Parts: sequence; structure tokens; C-alpha cells
Amino acid sequence: MSSSQATLEPQGPKGSWLGGNLMDYRKDPLGFLTELQTRYGGVAKIRFGPQKMYVIYDPMLLKELLITKQEQFVKLKAFEEARLFVGDGVATSTGEKHKRVRRLIQPHFTRAHVHKYAVQMADIVDSELSGWKVGEHRLLTDDISNMTFAIIAKTLFSLEGNAYASAIREPYELINRMCAERMRSLFSMPLFVATAKNKAYKSALQALDRGVYDIIKYRRKNPEAGEGDLLSVLLAAKDDQGNGMTDQELRDELMIMFIAGHETSANALAWAFSYILQMPEVERKLYEEWDRVLQGDRPTDADYMQLTYTQNVLWEAMRLRSPSFFTGRSAICDVELGSLKVKKGQSVLFSPYAIHHNPAYFPNPESFIPERFENDYLKRIPQFSYIPFGGGPRGCIGNHFAMLEMVIALCMIGQRYRLQLKAGHPPIEMEPLMTLRPKNGIEVLVGRR
Ligand code: HEM
Repeated sequence: MSSSQATLEPQGPKGSWLGGNLMDYRKDPLGFLTELQTRYGGVAKIRFGPQKMYVIYDPMLLKELLITKQEQFVKLKAFEEARLFVGDGVATSTGEKHKRVRRLIQPHFTRAHVHKYAVQMADIVDSELSGWKVGEHRLLTDDISNMTFAIIAKTLFSLEGNAYASAIREPYELINRMCAERMRSLFSMPLFVATAKNKAYKSALQALDRGVYDIIKYRRKNPEAGEGDLLSVLLAAKDDQGNGMTDQELRDELMIMFIAGHETSANALAWAFSYILQMPEVERKLYEEWDRVLQGDRPTDADYMQLTYTQNVLWEAMRLRSPSFFTGRSAICDVELGSLKVKKGQSVLFSPYAIHHNPAYFPNPESFIPERFENDYLKRIPQFSYIPFGGGPRGCIGNHFAMLEMVIALCMIGQRYRLQLKAGHPPIEMEPLMTLRPKNGIEVLVGRR
């Protein structure tokens, strides 16, 4: 699909009089977003209730949206609902505020800096695995989330183990579900109306707040507890007037790191396992690579570059099951993307999930083929035709971090145990909430390697 398909008057499905295309989206978001690309090509016009929007698939238009004209957009207005709990941190803030915080934290996410976390990451995986026993059944998805949460907590905020996991992960589960539901509704009951659902939502939001404020309180009292970590940088930051961040500002930045930083990586890893567990040939090649490169040792940052098949398995899992399955921007002024005229206030969505299913760039798109990424394949297809981490100044800051932790966790689990899907496991379905996760998780039988 080429830019020539981004016509002057984009077309789209008609939808119903009142809701437009919202019902079709709600029924099957992934099918809806993928079908639009098949039917309309580089850009489609849709309507959610009174709101007309565009969904873009053309890599050239994406480049304009995310790089050349990104200053004329802010994060999707529909994400306002998510601001209720993530607040105004680096993933949601705009303009100067966003630039300032992004500049401040960027040095902690360079490839070189992130690779210094390799030992801590491996220690955490090691300690999570120490409780596993051959012959038992485990909810792998839960174990993986524990690992990625503990990794963020330790590397960025110097918090031990899973001390804060229940304070943050548990309320987040309910919030995630309700937030996705509210974002997909034409009308959500305002939170001040005391319905049972609203009460549960509000009390989860309060619990989440408590968890994060406790961490801030502790570190303000014990600044020596995490010298040089990301939280110490945030605590020491001053604006032009010499003012430090307020507790609320710190809370927003921590919250986004916990949420953006643990769930997406956990989902990507879980999806990788969903394929490995069902494809003996992929498993065999991974074993071959781990035995050859690691020879029984723990993976280090130096091994990372040699673990190419492992990386390709993860790239392919994120192609087929992109954790961030849709996102978008809203225009702050009238702006043109190619020949597409976007009006001030109008939203432009894009779906990494659907874009990754384009057969023009990924032949046989439904098949899991890690080898397709060999020989720098991504350099041979247009930029922005593969975007699991988005792109441009608002692309994922944690991409190197995520790849390293996923490679380490995947190797270490697979070096130690041979996992099998639990007998009679139902098909692993997709559940698109705020991110794309395996519905009801993945249960495995732990076997000897
Ligand atoms: C496999 C794992 C991950 C995936 C697939 C992923 C995906 C994404 C995507 C697609 C975006 C851009 C969204 C947009 O353009 O609207 C994003 C932004 C972001 N991600 Fe990630 N992410 C992952 C891991 C992480 C990790 C480990 C961290 C932190 C440690 C992180 C922190 C962030 C932040 C802070 C932003 C907002 C950046 C900004 O607006 O300046 N992510 N992520």
C-alpha cells in the first residue's frame, strides 16, 4: 500500500447513524483496524459518535505525523480517560513540559546506559525462577509480569523485589479494564455518580496513588536509598525558576514508568512464549542459539548482540501481537499530512498491529517467521512499516530497555526449564485492553530442560 492511496477524499465504512463505526470497533478492535487497511489502503475515514477521525497506514504519512509535523499534534484526545490514573507524565504531557522531562530522563534509556542494568535484570529473573519446580503448573503470564515489574522497580527506582507489586499491580488490573471500557464508550457515567463500578474504579485509583506516593515519601526521607537512579534524577530536577518537582509531578512520572514500563514488555514476552510453546522448530533453534552463545552461563550485555535469533523471535512476536496495538494524535491546528487535510482538534489514529499485517511488507502476514527479520530486513522496507515502539520524539523511550530485559528473561527461562502448554489449554486469544494481552493468561507445565 503506497502513499498514492492516501487520496484527497479518504473513504471509510458508513457505520450507524448515531454511533458511526464505534459499535464495529467495540466488537472487534483488531479486526476493525486491520480490515480498514485491507479495504481503504493508506488512510481511512471513520466516525466514533460525532467525532470524525482518520486512521493512517501509509508509512509516509506516519513519518509526517510522528516526525516532520509532530509539533502540530498532541497525544490522542481519547487518552484523556487514561490521564485519570497516569496523570500528566512524560507519556501524556505536551510542549515544553514534555521536552523538559524527556530530556531529563533520556540519558537513563540510551543503549549504553540500559546495558548497565543487565546484571540486575538477570538477578531478578534468577530470583523469580528460584521458586519454580519441575512438574508444577504455573500461570506464566503472571510470572512474567512479576519479573518485568520487579525489573522496573529495581533498575529505575532501587526498590527491592516485589515490595510494591501488590500496591500497584493489583489496582492497575481493574483500572486497565475499566479505562479501556470507558475509552470505547460513547458515554461513560461520570465518576462522581456513585455506581458500583465507579466506586470500585475510584478506590483502585486511590490505592494506586497511595502505592506511588508511599515510594516518593520514602525517598524524600531517604535520599541515599537510590543514588544515581532515575528517581534520584527526578527528585533533584529543578525548573528555570529553581523549583523542584512537586509530589504530584513525581507521582505522574513514576506512574507512567511503572505502567508503560512493565505491562508492554510482559505482554510481548508472553506472546513470544505463546508461539514458542506451539512451534517445536522455533524452540529447537532457540536452544541451539542459547547453547552455542551462552554455553550454560547467564546472558550478559555482551552476549546480547550475538543472540540474534532470540531477538528475531521477539521482533516477530511484536509484529504479530503488537502490545501497543493502537495509538494516535490530535491536531492542535489545521495541518496537512500528504494530501490529507486534518482540521484543528481532529484525531489521527494508527495501529501498529494492523500496519504489521500488511502483506506488502510482511508476506504471509499471519505466519510466525522470525527469519523474516534476518539480514537487516527492516532496512529494506519503508521506515514506519514496522513500529512496535512507535517513532519520533514521542516514540518509546524504553525500547532498548525492553529488548534487553526480554532477551535476558527469555534466555534464562528457556535455559533452565522446558515449558509446555498445560494439557487441554484453550486457544490463546487476544484481549485488546489498553495494551494487547493474552486473554486469561497462559498456563504452562514446567519441565526439565
Ligand atoms: C515491549 C515493550 C514495549 C512496547 C511494545 C512499547 C511501546 C510503546 C509505544 C508504541 C510508544 C509510543 C506511543 C505513541 O506514539 O503514542 C511508547 C511510548 C513510551 N514508552 Fe514504551 N513500550 C515498551 C516498553 C517500555 C519500557 C520498558 C518503558 C520504560 C522503562 C517504556 C516507556 C515509555 C514511555 C515513557 C513512553 C512515552 C514517551 C513519550 O511520549 O515521550 N516503554 N511505548
